[in-house]
Amino acid sequence: MLDHDKYYFTYADIHETVRKLAEQLQASGFEPDVMVAIGTGGFIPARILRTYIKKPILTVGLAYYDMDNRPMEIPQKVQWIDEVQQKLPGKRILLVDEVDDSRATLEYCLRELLASRPLEVAVMVLHNKRKPKRGSLPPEVRRYWAGEELEDRWVYYPWDALDIAAHEALARQAR
Ligand code: G4P
Ligand code: MG
Repeated sequence: MLDHDKYYFTYADIHETVRKLAEQLQASGFEPDVMVAIGTGGFIPARILRTYIKKPILTVGLAYYDMDNRPMEIPQKVQWIDEVQQKLPGKRILLVDEVDDSRATLEYCLRELLASRPLEVAVMVLHNKRKPKRGSLPPEVRRYWAGEELEDRWVYYPWDALDIAAHEALARQAR
């Protein structure tokens, strides 16, 4: 059933949003040496971006729940870049995620990446939700691209669909 308070995006929608973002990135003159994708939502957007911007992708994973499934204030690193992090000093990094929601994860990742003294870290997200943010972008972050500005509603991404045909039908209805 279509829920009018939610957003539905298809793989084609996402691909097109990434294509436009790639254009903006190229027009800006910012040439990343490496992408860092925040898992798991940032994985597919980063891979699509690689079709336009041929750069390597590093991935990081964070969790907000402890072993007893209790929510935590500060995210835990599930996976981090480790020895690769040693290669980040002096590099231009593009941090990629699907949605800028509370901004808490983004802020945490940005601070961790900035600690390895890159030349620059820029941020790219498919979607930014217009809402009061819990986190903030550190002042060192001067470039931020969001493919689309959204209201503060839940977004259904195609990769979360159990039935992709039904998801695509809802996305068509929502237009
Ligand atoms: P932010 O810094 O990027 O704003 O992230 P925030 O901590 O607010 O987000 C917590 C989790 O909630 C993230 O996923 C994020 O992708 C997810 N999320 C927030 N809003 C939406 C939404 O509208 N739709 C969907 N599908 N997800 C949303 P995560 O728990 O880190 O993991 P993963 O789902 O990316 O694997
Ligand atoms: Mg995510």
